[in-house]
Amino acid sequence: MPKSEQWIVLAEKAMSKAYVPYSNFQVGAVIETAEGEVFSGCNVENASYPEGTCAEAGAIAAMIMGGGQRIKQIYVMGVGELLVTPCGGCRQRIREFSDEQTLIHICSPEKGIRKTLSMDDLLPYSFGPTNLL
Ligand code: THU
Repeated sequence: MPKSEQWIVLAEKAMSKAYVPYSNFQVGAVIETAEGEVFSGCNVENASYPEGTCAEAGAIAAMIMGGGQRIKQIYVMGVGELLVTPCGGCRQRIREFSDEQTLIHICSPEKGIRKTLSMDDLLPYSFGPTNLL
């Protein structure tokens, strides 16, 4: 399992892979699963602007493809003065695979972890798998 600075390095690596010719806004995401496996993603845009995918979505897709199921923690990295928090859609995507213990770390290359949030901080009163039972 990577140590704290290594998570930042992994997030930077993921961010550097972003394909962002339209927004020029690179985002990286790194997930540690409950089983201790690590999966990364970056945002991938395309000429039909709304069809681009977020870094978190890429990391979750990699996690599911790799056999992971639960998010223990996720590092989301971007630049800028404001925190690069997951978009609304990604909050719901993370919610699907999270629990009360899941940590969402908002990071930047310069500052490392800037803020750590719970799923409930990000998406209170969320609708999740148990609502369908
Ligand atoms: N973006 C992410 O990858 N994750 C987020 O949670 C926020 C936004 C991406 C989408 C788009 O490629 C770029 O950032 C600008 O919105």
